[in-house]
Amino acid sequence: MSSVAEYMDSMDYAPAPEGNAEAKAWLAAHAAGFGHFINGSWVGGGRADAFETHDPSTGKLLARIAQGSAADVNAAVAAARAAQAPWAAAGGAVRARHLYALARMVQRHARLLAVVESMDNGKPIRESRDIDIPLVARHFYHHAGWAQVQASEFADQRPVGVVGQIIPWNFPLLMLAWKVAPALALGNTVVLKPAEYTPLTALLFAELAAAAGLPPGVLNIVTGDGATGAALVEHPGVDKLAFTGSTEVGRLIREKSAGSGKALTLELGGKSPFIVFDDADLDAAVEGVVDAIWFNQGQVCCAGSRLLVQEGVAERFIAKLKRRMAALRVGAPLDKAVDMGAIVAPAQLERIRALVKLAADEGGTVYQAPGAAQACAKEGGGCFYPPTLITGVQPGATVAREEIFGPVLVAGTFRTPDEAVMLANNSRYGLSASVWSENIGLALDVAPKLVAGVVWVNATNLFDAAVGFGGTRESGFGREGGREGCFEYLKPLAWDGLPLRSAAPAAAPNRAAPAPANVFAMPSLDRTAKLFIGGKQARPDGGHSLPQFAASGHLAGEVGAGNRKDIRNAVAAARGAEGWTKATSHNRTQVLYYLGENLSARAAEFAQRIGTLTGASANAARAEVEAAIGRCFSAAAWADKYEGRVHQPPLRGVALALPEALGVVGVVCPPEAPLLAFVSLVAPLIALGNRVVVVPSATASLVATDFYQVLETSDVPAGVVNIVTGDTLALARTLAEHDDVDGLWAFGSAELSLLSEKLSVGNLKRTLVDHGRAVDWFDDRAASGPILLRHAVQVKNVWIPYGE
Ligand code: NAI
Repeated sequence: MSSVAEYMDSMDYAPAPEGNAEAKAWLAAHAAGFGHFINGSWVGGGRADAFETHDPSTGKLLARIAQGSAADVNAAVAAARAAQAPWAAAGGAVRARHLYALARMVQRHARLLAVVESMDNGKPIRESRDIDIPLVARHFYHHAGWAQVQASEFADQRPVGVVGQIIPWNFPLLMLAWKVAPALALGNTVVLKPAEYTPLTALLFAELAAAAGLPPGVLNIVTGDGATGAALVEHPGVDKLAFTGSTEVGRLIREKSAGSGKALTLELGGKSPFIVFDDADLDAAVEGVVDAIWFNQGQVCCAGSRLLVQEGVAERFIAKLKRRMAALRVGAPLDKAVDMGAIVAPAQLERIRALVKLAADEGGTVYQAPGAAQACAKEGGGCFYPPTLITGVQPGATVAREEIFGPVLVAGTFRTPDEAVMLANNSRYGLSASVWSENIGLALDVAPKLVAGVVWVNATNLFDAAVGFGGTRESGFGREGGREGCFEYLKPLAWDGLPLRSAAPAAAPNRAAPAPANVFAMPSLDRTAKLFIGGKQARPDGGHSLPQFAASGHLAGEVGAGNRKDIRNAVAAARGAEGWTKATSHNRTQVLYYLGENLSARAAEFAQRIGTLTGASANAARAEVEAAIGRCFSAAAWADKYEGRVHQPPLRGVALALPEALGVVGVVCPPEAPLLAFVSLVAPLIALGNRVVVVPSATASLVATDFYQVLETSDVPAGVVNIVTGDTLALARTLAEHDDVDGLWAFGSAELSLLSEKLSVGNLKRTLVDHGRAVDWFDDRAASGPILLRHAVQVKNVWIPYGE
């Protein structure tokens, strides 16, 4: 008989499978193949071009799924369009009831949903049961509340309309909830395309939602691959697109939808840092790593896949981590005692293998717990990959830069907090970060410095419906969840139905007209206005000037013809003026008041210039100057009031929602209202800490060049506002393509909107464009306050759990 010691040594877990009879029965009932869910009915099932979805842990067939054609997408968009107005008109209270019903429905069918999710995706039942599905319910509950209070909380907004949503396979039902809950709550209707690997829970959800009384057409599900997604992206009947998936496809969607007028949110990849300081609770941090990179087999966009450990504790930490890795159990997803299930599909498994091999080729040391690989092999037929740790690679190595999207952690070290921040930010991504230290002062000093949409302090992978989630840089733009997530599904009433700009250029002066004899304020050529870069007047690089004509047709002066190099210099100056972003809001408020004051002191001069260049009457020109002064004061007022929030998600802790400046923003001004549009766009941006490179109105650039002196006398630090005059479209193009420009606001024509959005794909900059519609710059509702301030920042959520 074995001794107790021997027994303890050999003790292993017995299988503890979750029952899947109900799930199997549901699949059997659909053995003929699933169709699309369009207008409350199932259509297109059983066609010859259907594809298969498999259980990744066994490779066995689960179901046959309809491949959505352009015609299917068309039918779904038509159904969503027909349902949208009545759904919006039903009112928030009615929609709230529907969302509550969906939340309850998810709770009632929680086990079935969790089992189907684990079967289709390969994730352990522990996670689908305890994390995915409860969060799905939470999303519907939370957004039911936003529907209920919509009329008062979002009184100046209306729904966007018909929304096309494309989701990935890593959190199939949770991503559906993140997208569908806010869209429906706020009065939109939806066409959603699940990922081809994992369509089942979306179909089950649709079936249950219909039974729960969701009106036909409000939620439509069209299954299929990338081609189906592309058809949805290109459909002219879609008002907004929301995408989660790879950066590559996100870019494609940005390009394809550019200039279409469709709103867009992109939640893309990441290579998120997990920073462990030497004063961290190392055991807690090891558990953190487990949740960061081995949760969901590492197939998590915000996975903490780049471990950075302070040098003094690195050896000890890695040793602890290796011990912990040996205890992780990889196996059948439905086994309740399994930590890691299967990788979603053979193609993904191959990709992970190839990247790990590359790590070894690049000189890295690959560690997997003894026996882990054999254990995976034992699970024959399934896509299993063991928890993996890579050490000894340079920060520039492929595996340290590229998203592996698997259970593979890449570890490195740092010496000082500054170095940690520098290494953490050395990435083209900016989705999330995790900071571990028992020194709250240090953690909260580091958190704002990290380029990421979400930062977890002494925690990782925490999510809640009330706390916005989303990234920056090539991790995409827009937020999901919380108040900021609601705005992604709303459109300001003040921008609704704006008139189209006429095709003819605004107030085109008659250049052929002979100059009158006594020309007002005609400057001599040596007084050609220069560019304004880094706080100094600068001659244009190309040495060329452009004439500026008065409304009467005479030559009113010349401005510099800026080129690519001038834009590059201006961007460099703006980048260097980082002190403005770090300045206190109190400081920025004072500068903006001063700017308004100095503009006011020169009001008569500006009015005269506007009158000359645009032909506006004296009264109209004066009114424009007064309105511009008002905008400076308004921005000054908001600078220290457009603040963050403290969320209290369901855990012991808080999440700080901090609005952060975008950074360097390009501004292209429309031809009309040359001073007012300029100030309306620039003032809110700088009020919230951005630095700008402005291309002023092409026809009245002299107004902007006069503005230098106001900037110079108002204590605006050098580099905060840079002005480059010249050919609007050419300069806008350079700004859009410039990878060190974080945002671009371009107003003036549909052509300008198209090129701004299309060319911004390089670094996926945030764009704000008018799609050829004319904003009334005199209308405070349309051109002042939160309507623009909201676009001048992005919210970073810093999670701070507390307690032992
Ligand atoms: P993917 O980006 O191709 O797929 C995501 C969704 O987009 C799916 O529904 C897919 O059908 C759809 N799609 C594909 N091409 C499309 C197109 N041209 N137009 C519209 N929709 C399109 O991701 P994939 O190929 O499944 O995974 C590849 C890599 O992407 C992963 O290894 C991982 O690195 C990354 N990824 C990141 C995710 C995230 O959450 N950030 C999620 C899934 C994948």
